[in-house]
Amino acid sequence: MSGMKEGVVKIPISEIYLDESIYPRETIDHRRIAVFEENLRDGFEFDPIEVQVWPDPENPAKVRYRILDGRHRWGAYKKTGATHIEVVIITLDQMEPILYAAQMAIGPKQLTEAETRNTARRAFQSDPRLTSSEIGQAIGRSRQAVDKYIADLRATAIFDLELKIFRLHQLGIPQDRIARRVGLGQQRISRYLRLLPQIAKGVNTDLSKGFTVPQVAQKHGWPESLVWSQALVKADDFDRFKALQWGIRTWDVWNFMECDPRFGDDWPGRIPAQLVAHILYFFSEPGDLVLDPMAGGGVCADTCLAMGRRCWSLDMDDRPETRPEIEPWFWDPEQEWDTRPFFNTREKPALIICDPPYFDKKADAYAEKSISGLSKTEYLAFLERFLRFLKQISRKNARLAFINADWRDFQNCPAKKEDQGQAILLTDYYEMFKNTGWTLTHLIQAPMSSERFNGGVVAAMQKKKILGVTSRYVMVLK
Ligand SMILES: C[S@@+](CC[C@H](N)C(=O)[O-])C[C@H]1O[C@@H](n2cnc3c(N)ncnc32)[C@H](O)[C@@H]1O
Repeated sequence: MSGMKEGVVKIPISEIYLDESIYPRETIDHRRIAVFEENLRDGFEFDPIEVQVWPDPENPAKVRYRILDGRHRWGAYKKTGATHIEVVIITLDQMEPILYAAQMAIGPKQLTEAETRNTARRAFQSDPRLTSSEIGQAIGRSRQAVDKYIADLRATAIFDLELKIFRLHQLGIPQDRIARRVGLGQQRISRYLRLLPQIAKGVNTDLSKGFTVPQVAQKHGWPESLVWSQALVKADDFDRFKALQWGIRTWDVWNFMECDPRFGDDWPGRIPAQLVAHILYFFSEPGDLVLDPMAGGGVCADTCLAMGRRCWSLDMDDRPETRPEIEPWFWDPEQEWDTRPFFNTREKPALIICDPPYFDKKADAYAEKSISGLSKTEYLAFLERFLRFLKQISRKNARLAFINADWRDFQNCPAKKEDQGQAILLTDYYEMFKNTGWTLTHLIQAPMSSERFNGGVVAAMQKKKILGVTSRYVMVLK
């Protein structure tokens, strides 16, 4: 690569591609490409085109180079049959790629009015935190012009943001954490929080007129769980169950065949909202703070909204748009989270609902490094440490609802031949509770549906004397 300008590298032209989503122009100027091609054949040298390292749209695991500036030069090089061309690889720290591309494009030839408007809208959609002045500067328009281009988008974004803040606040998440989660300063959050009564007004008016919760949720674009939190604000636990049409089981077998689709996302290892509601009913009070340290599809937070509890949810899987209330948190078996303060707050949960992934089960369904991928010894060591930590961070007299099941390696193996060395049974957890200072107060059966074994599988199991597991337990501890 001798003799090249600093920052300039030569790469195969086939590795470069045009990403329409960040290309500010609506059309390609073929005359311009033809002129450039002639210039190249005459030996004219162009500035290198600018590219950004970016995943291949066809194969995201592979990295290629997308064009930020020089689409016409790239076209001309291809026409001359060049196999490699010089490029400058640009790293964009703060700037939206489409704004950078637009800024570069307006140098040689102004964007049309439609192109400018479109670019502003696409930039705002990629990052709603961009101000109109920032966008305007990049595309060469005034702040007022940009305001007009994006007025409708901004209204939707503000609505989404207000709703997120409202939801996080209803769940009892402190302001500093709400601010961090939605990427705004704490002052802006307090301002939004002052507007809260206003935000809920329309919803409450419709509820008082007798519209149903699903109708109101649909009309106002609110999640149903949040509407329930308003509709049931004055109800006691008993009336909440009635309104939600859940029968209260007053015995220790809680078998719910279906997950209630109104609460929580479809998620590997999802537990029914009815199960969460029963834990809340018997082991917490309205207004209590609940902690769900491995929150998955968010069923616990949703149910807490409907049941008038506050809830902090954590998970290694981060979905800031759809599940802003689940704060990203990785319990790394190799890190020292148990010796550091847990959040910057004195408040401690009154109830912890802990639904860890079962050992080895669904290891492929969760993110890499989930604890379900650990070996048996590591898994047990992790949970013991985790239980000790949960004791440390919860209130005196707090309850822990620990959900788990026997794990036996029964796949394809007759019951008598199973390897006990590989199994984890409830008795192993009992040992752990003793070691970590928790006392078992209730053992509740909450079996999984036996429909997980379909007819064909059952027939094969019958022939081979395979004994599967459908039992699941809520172990309540003090
Ligand atoms: C059984 S799922 C929880 C399901 C949830 N109760 C529901 O009904 O949707 C267990 C969750 O633990 C999370 N998880 C596993 N290992 C983790 C770790 N080391 N740190 C944080 N989260 C972890 C997984 O991402 C998964 O969402």
